[in-house]
Amino acid sequence: MNKKNLYIYTIGCQMNVYDSEMFARILEPLDYIQTDSLEEADLVIVNTCSIRKKAEEKAFSFLGRTQKLKKKNPELIVAIGGCVAQQEGRNIISRIPAVDIVFGTDAIPRLPKIVQKVETTGDRVIDVEVNSDIAETMPVVEDAENATVSKFVTIMRGCDNYCTYCIVPYVRGREKSREPDNIIQEITNLVATGTKDITLLGQNVNSYGLKESMCSFPELLKKVSEIKGLERIRYATSHPKDMSDELINAYREIDKLCSHVHLPVQSGSDKILKKMNRKYTREIYMNRIQCLKEVRPDIAVTSDFIVGFPGETDEDFKETLALIEAVEFDGLYAFKYSDRPNAPAVEFEPKVPEDVARKRLEELLQLESRISKKRNQAYVGKICQVLVEGQSKRKNEDGKNQWSGRTSSNKIVNFALDVSKESKDVVGHIFNVEIKNALEHSLWGIEKEV
Ligand code: SAH
Ligand code: SF4
Ligand code: F3S
Repeated sequence: MNKKNLYIYTIGCQMNVYDSEMFARILEPLDYIQTDSLEEADLVIVNTCSIRKKAEEKAFSFLGRTQKLKKKNPELIVAIGGCVAQQEGRNIISRIPAVDIVFGTDAIPRLPKIVQKVETTGDRVIDVEVNSDIAETMPVVEDAENATVSKFVTIMRGCDNYCTYCIVPYVRGREKSREPDNIIQEITNLVATGTKDITLLGQNVNSYGLKESMCSFPELLKKVSEIKGLERIRYATSHPKDMSDELINAYREIDKLCSHVHLPVQSGSDKILKKMNRKYTREIYMNRIQCLKEVRPDIAVTSDFIVGFPGETDEDFKETLALIEAVEFDGLYAFKYSDRPNAPAVEFEPKVPEDVARKRLEELLQLESRISKKRNQAYVGKICQVLVEGQSKRKNEDGKNQWSGRTSSNKIVNFALDVSKESKDVVGHIFNVEIKNALEHSLWGIEKEV
C-alpha cells in the first residue's frame, strides 16, 4: 500500500503536544507517516487551543492557508481537533469550507474510523460527542526511532475547577484520571527506549485519583520513581489550593522529583483571586511556597499571571507586583485577560481597557526580567547536574560542539564538553557542569569532573 503523508500543526498546551503524538500513532495503521512539509501532505490535522482569543485566531488563520492548498490538491483532507473544534463544532465548516473533519477532545480514539470514512466516501464528519471514558486513551508506545530524553505523559484529562475566566472545563469536560497501572506501563515503555525525564500532565495534577478513589498524586509519584532507568520526574500543572503537605513532603522523600514547581497564582490581590474563583488567598499561596523552599531550598518556582481581569484596579495590580517581588519567581508566563465563551467572567464588569492591560503586562514582564536574571546569576560558579537533551546549534567560540540540557530546576544549560567524551553517548547522560555565565533564559558552562 502507498504511504500517505500526515502533517500535524499543534497549538496550545503540553497536553495538546501529547495528543498530537497520539494522532500520529493511531493513524499509522492507515499508512500515514508524519511529514514536515505542508505542501506534500495528504492529511492535515490542526490541533487547536481555545484558552485565549489569540490562540483561537491562530487556528483559523492556519485553516485559511489550507483553503489554498486544497485548491491545488482537491484530494487533501483537512481535519481540526482540540479545544476550538470542541467549542465551535459545526460552525467551523461554515466558516472554513475546506475543512473535512471536526473532531472534539473526546473523539481521539475514533479518529482512524473518521479518517477512513472521509477517505472512502468523501463525506464530511463532525464528531464532538462527549464521552467520559476517554481518559484511558491508547498509550503512546514509543519506538527507538522517535525516542527523546524528555517526554510528556498525560495522567488526567479535563478540569472541575471552574475558574471564572477559563474555558477548559467547557472544552475538555470533567476531570478524569487514568489508571495508575497504565501510566506506569507507558512510562516503563518510554524509559526502555531511552527516555530519562518525564513530565506528568494534567490541569490540576494534585487532585489526581481523588474522584476515582484510586491512588493519590504523591502515591503515584512514588510508584513512578520506582521505575528503573528513569532519572527525573516533573509535573504540570498543580493548583495552589491543592498543594498538600503530602505533596510538599514528596520533595523530601523522592530524589527523582525535580527541584522545580510551576504553581500558577494568577494574581496577588485577594479580591481578584476571589472573583477568579481560585479558592486560595495570597497568604495561603505564600505559605505553600515557603514550605516548598524549606523542604527543597534549591527549588525553582515559576507561575502564570493574568493581568487586566475585570475589576482589577491599580491597587490590585500593585499587589501582584509585590507578590512577584516577594516570591522572586524563576520565570513566569503572563497574559492579558481574554473574554472566553461560556466562562462566567465574560459578564463581569468593569472591563479593563486594552491599553491599561497592555501597560500592566509590560510592567510585570520588566520586573520579572530583572528578577529572573538575578535568579540565574546566582547559579554562576555553582556546579549543576545537567541532563543532556541534544546538541546546541551554536558552536563555542573555539569551534567546539556545544551541548544543551537542563538542570533539575529546569534551567537550560548550554555547555562545552571535553572532546574525548564526545565519542560516547552524550545525549541522555548527566554531566556536572560549572556555570560560568548567566543569561535571562539560559545558563552557560563547562563540564567539570568532580
Ligand atoms: N490548569 C492550569 C492552567 C491552564 S491554562 C491552572 O489552573 O493553573 C494556562 C494559563 O492560561 C492559566 O494559568 C492562565 O494564566 C491563562 N489563562 C487561562 N484563561 C485565560 C483567559 N481567559 N485570559 C487570559 N489568560 C488565561
Ligand atoms: Fe482553567 Fe482553573 Fe481548570 Fe486551570 S484549574 S484549567 S485555570 S478552570
Ligand atoms: Fe489550550 Fe485546550 Fe490546552 S484550551 S491550554 S489546548 S486544554
